[in-house]
Amino acid sequence: MPPALKALLAQFAGLATAFALARAGLVGGLWPLVGVQALAAAAVAHLLGSARWWLPIHLGFVPLVVGAQGLGANPAWYLAAFVLLALVYWTSFRTQVPLYLSNRRTAAAVATLLPPRPCAVLDIGAGTGSLLRPLARARPDCRFSGIELAPATWLIGRLLAARVPNIDWRRADLFARPWQDYDLVYAFLSPVPMAAVWKKAAAELRPGALLVSNSFPVPERAPDLVIEVGDRRRTRLYGYRIQPAATP
Ligand SMILES: C[S@@+](CC[C@H](N)C(=O)[O-])C[C@H]1O[C@@H](n2cnc3c(N)ncnc32)[C@H](O)[C@@H]1O
Repeated sequence: MPPALKALLAQFAGLATAFALARAGLVGGLWPLVGVQALAAAAVAHLLGSARWWLPIHLGFVPLVVGAQGLGANPAWYLAAFVLLALVYWTSFRTQVPLYLSNRRTAAAVATLLPPRPCAVLDIGAGTGSLLRPLARARPDCRFSGIELAPATWLIGRLLAARVPNIDWRRADLFARPWQDYDLVYAFLSPVPMAAVWKKAAAELRPGALLVSNSFPVPERAPDLVIEVGDRRRTRLYGYRIQPAATP
């Protein structure tokens, strides 16, 4: 079951529990019922096998909604916040890839992996271009492409890259575009798509090309190289070199 559906079910189960207890006269008053809803939602999420970080979200969701009612804020603010978050996170509920950005030390570590000749680099899920901009400035002889799906991050990235001539910035799904022209493909995604990312890389990249994944290794495959970036978040880069096809 997709995580977003589990979350919806857990919230409704919490509401149904609070409603049933109120009807039976076992719990009364707004905040006790809110507490029951929150605990029941978290318990159901746990039973459905949701990841641990969903539990504080379920515990806080309805209490925050009810608390925010008391602020008397104009409902347009909630709509505006929702639209903004939707434009940034877009299909995260489906792709299970949130937004976090590569830092400069990571970009510097990736720069050491670029070949010493003109080359082509693709960032799949390029965010706002935090990785590509420093790389493109450091290596004007290379071509850097970013593919980003979420409209807000794509737009920010496009504006920020407008004056960097060797960056090509596109709004597209990373699985929908071909990768065969690239020497290095960089991914900073989540554990969820890594098996599919490797499948596409192995099928499309040329022998000798490198798939580099920030933080999330390809499942069941030993990396050809691992780089400890040495930054505060202890970034680790996993590199997978495409091997020539075995001759029969
Ligand atoms: C963790 S961020 C990494 C951003 C950037 N690569 C960096 O290192 O700073 C992942 C990005 O991938 C984007 N993304 C997720 N799934 C995608 C898909 N199927 N196609 C294109 N972009 C996607 C998200 O919108 C998000 O901006």
